[in-house]
Amino acid sequence: MNVYEAIERRRDVRTEFTGEVVDDAVLTRVLGAAHRAPSVGMSQPWDFVVVRDPATLAAFADHVAQEREAYAAELPPERAERLAPITVEGVRRAGTGVVVTHDPDRGGPQVLGRRTVPGTGLASTYLAVQNLWLAATAEGLGVGWVSFYREERLRALVGAPARVQVVAWLCVGPVTSLAEVPDLERHHWRSRRPLADAVHTERWSDQHESEGA
Ligand SMILES: Cc1cc2nc3c(=O)[nH]c(=O)nc-3n(C[C@H](O)[C@H](O)[C@H](O)COP(=O)(O)O)c2cc1C
Repeated sequence: MNVYEAIERRRDVRTEFTGEVVDDAVLTRVLGAAHRAPSVGMSQPWDFVVVRDPATLAAFADHVAQEREAYAAELPPERAERLAPITVEGVRRAGTGVVVTHDPDRGGPQVLGRRTVPGTGLASTYLAVQNLWLAATAEGLGVGWVSFYREERLRALVGAPARVQVVAWLCVGPVTSLAEVPDLERHHWRSRRPLADAVHTERWSDQHESEGA
């Protein structure tokens, strides 16, 4: 699969996990791809905690279910109705969670390139996530990003130190198929902006914005 195909086929997966656990050698290749991401000043601020203990998966899934309910309760009725059919996690079914953490101290105080744009540190960790996601797609696996969690709760679940930021729980596992259309689009939650709205010439302009904020 070439890179464009992987980008095209990549999908956020919630319900299509088969229930089989991803092979260790394949997971190591995928984590290797994540670990080759670019990073500001070559700081490599990411770490990956591989979670398969059913008790931890269950505890996290229960926590996410609670947070999803809290989110739904804050929505206007019309939005809450649209959320109802959207599953927000495949934690148990994927069988493997990869918790991605970000260490802002990695690379020392003088990270080359981070001085004027502090966000480049965290951006580096997110790039590792994208590498992981695309490599997993090329391996025929599914990945589901879960962010419906309280950071302190997940930090405690995986024993991460206080200085690191817990940036993602990724459900990783074999899938029956990858959907062609994102779930959120299929359920009329939100659709993809046209490329022409995102590309500007010479100066930033919102005159061609078709959907607004
Ligand atoms: C930072 C981030 C956090 C996300 N958190 C969640 C989440 O908590 N639950 C969920 O179902 N999807 C989550 N997603 C997936 C998005 O909903 C998904 O990427 C988007 O709907 C587009 O679909 P696609 O990835 O299949 O193209 C997250 C994605 C990103 C990039």
